[in-house]
Amino acid sequence: MLLRSHFPPKYTNCETKRQFTWPFTTEVRLMFVHTMYIYQKTNRYFAQVADDIKEIAAAEIQDLGATEVRLAYRGLYFEASPDVLYCLNLRSALVHRILAPLLTFDCHSDRYLYKTAAKIQWSDFLTPDHTFAVFATVSNSTIRHSKFAALRLKDAIVDYFRATTGKRPSIETQSPDLWINLRIHNNRATLSIDTSSGSLHRRRYRLQTVEAPMIETLAAAILKAAEWDCHQPLYDPFCGSGTLLCEAYLQATQTPPGMLRSHFGFERLPDFDLRQWEQVKQACSQNTITISKNLVAGSDISKTAVAAARRNANTFDQHGNITIHQRDIFQIDKLEQKFILCNPPYGVRLKNSQEDLATFYKRLGDFLKQRCRGSTACIYFGDRQYIKHIGLRSSWKKPFSNGGLDGRLVKYVLY
Ligand SMILES: C[S@@+](CC[C@H](N)C(=O)[O-])C[C@H]1O[C@@H](n2cnc3c(N)ncnc32)[C@H](O)[C@@H]1O
Repeated sequence: MLLRSHFPPKYTNCETKRQFTWPFTTEVRLMFVHTMYIYQKTNRYFAQVADDIKEIAAAEIQDLGATEVRLAYRGLYFEASPDVLYCLNLRSALVHRILAPLLTFDCHSDRYLYKTAAKIQWSDFLTPDHTFAVFATVSNSTIRHSKFAALRLKDAIVDYFRATTGKRPSIETQSPDLWINLRIHNNRATLSIDTSSGSLHRRRYRLQTVEAPMIETLAAAILKAAEWDCHQPLYDPFCGSGTLLCEAYLQATQTPPGMLRSHFGFERLPDFDLRQWEQVKQACSQNTITISKNLVAGSDISKTAVAAARRNANTFDQHGNITIHQRDIFQIDKLEQKFILCNPPYGVRLKNSQEDLATFYKRLGDFLKQRCRGSTACIYFGDRQYIKHIGLRSSWKKPFSNGGLDGRLVKYVLY
């Protein structure tokens, strides 16, 4: 049973007022006073970004129109107009998700969390026919368990709809219409809408994977850090499921990484402007360019990996401009005047081989020295202990962690 006290009429920072009628009784009339949400008042958002790619991501979102960008723990604060927010979700290759803050409040108990969340006019974002999910993180606070915090917030949202419409939206944790984000840190809660609708690293092109695939945002960051100019032919001789090739293709053709996503969370914001969103999409599609057939190519020793890479690339490269072959790198005659970008095997003993990884990396170094004249190689070592076995002088080394591994991207200029 939902009590009147769940929707107290007093609500701070009022900008506009609306009246609702409780549908189950003619006597009870509730007044909801609608507050402007934080993101509406400030135009400020938070982009979740992996810690070691924050600088490159800050430069990327600035290029796309974000202002007042500030580095923070696990992400970036920035300001943006609605069209820039849409553009960032569609075009950023490095950001995981963008949160639009609604409300922030002191939160010392689950009861208070429920009461405060119940005051939000959730019909601004959802109808009972939509699905939603809550993602919560909790640290250094009286509420100790993130799942419990998420449950209380879900209860508040469901009870809101039951009281106002008699129906409730369903929970869907795979692909909901709306992701709601709750962070409680030092007993201070922030409630946000995930404007990306799930992590942007899921570009929807990776239909098949192989062992140790690279996360798409890391592949994009490596590509940016390697400073490929989009003109020199790029080759990945250890392409696996083709993540580096797909990201290189997206970058060279200026295809928005979010192109294959079916929906974004910002479409559920109360001030969503469909006309502006159409304009953003149209501007992007006018900017895409076609690339020549040999600009992005790769190979892998594994037949399964080659099939996966071709299938993934085909999701958007319908003209087959990315060339992928099945090859053992050591059987390749030469890779001259190329931009070699790759992520060789690491951490596990090579399958079907008696060779250990130290010997493998020594042979790779010999291959680069002897058969790759005039090329630049940027190699991502998932395990940096193998760098020394390559036996080549590097131009630079940059740290990039991958699934908890302290990897390095190393550049070699080959004469
Ligand atoms: C770490 S995985 C690459 C993952 C890839 N970046 C992705 O995102 O899916 C290393 C790849 O090297 C391939 N490989 C191992 N030995 C090879 C060799 N001698 N020649 C070519 N490819 C090889 C494996 O089949 C595997 O797909």
